[in-house]
Amino acid sequence: MIIDVPDLALVALVGISGSGKSTFARKHWKSTQVLSSDFFRGLVADDENDQSASADAFEVLHYVAGKRLAAGRLTVVDATNLQSHARAGLVKVAREHDVLPVAIVLDVPESLAWERTQARADRTFGRQVLTRMHRDLRRSLNQLSREGFRKIHVLRGVDEIADTEIRYEK
Ligand code: GTP
Ligand code: MG
Repeated sequence: MIIDVPDLALVALVGISGSGKSTFARKHWKSTQVLSSDFFRGLVADDENDQSASADAFEVLHYVAGKRLAAGRLTVVDATNLQSHARAGLVKVAREHDVLPVAIVLDVPESLAWERTQARADRTFGRQVLTRMHRDLRRSLNQLSREGFRKIHVLRGVDEIADTEIRYEK
């Protein structure tokens, strides 16, 4: 599947933990184009998993995203982006810079994400956390267009995610 993305956009990846957002980002973009919430938590708190650092981390992430968009640089946000208020912050930054906010949703079965999560040393949360994320994802799918995302690409399942190519349009 080929998905069209404006060559200047703020791309929000949306997906539960273990859905493959960071893997997808590494495959499709340069590391400097991708702003990950984990990285910014690490930057402000020395711990990528310190959820209490999220507010500060996102403040800095939004700031950097704004600088990049002001300079005309495509920017990808690698965070779960499962909450409406989290996405609102991204839509706001995009609008402030006259840039299209685009959502790419990675929709994989919760059971697969859980298998992957259990195999990771850097993720220690319980199954209920993932179940809540999955519920939030289902709700998110109905909300994205209303929130101002101009293009919404929903990639369903591992095969579709693996087969996706991104084409840039002016
Ligand atoms: P969080 O950062 O926790 O929100 O997860 P994430 O959505 O960034 O998932 P990530 O890309 O880190 O992938 C989770 C695990 O699944 C990693 O161990 C990946 O190697 C694995 N994984 C991700 N995508 C694929 C895929 O397409 N195929 C296979 N075989 N493994 C994958
Ligand atoms: Mg990740």
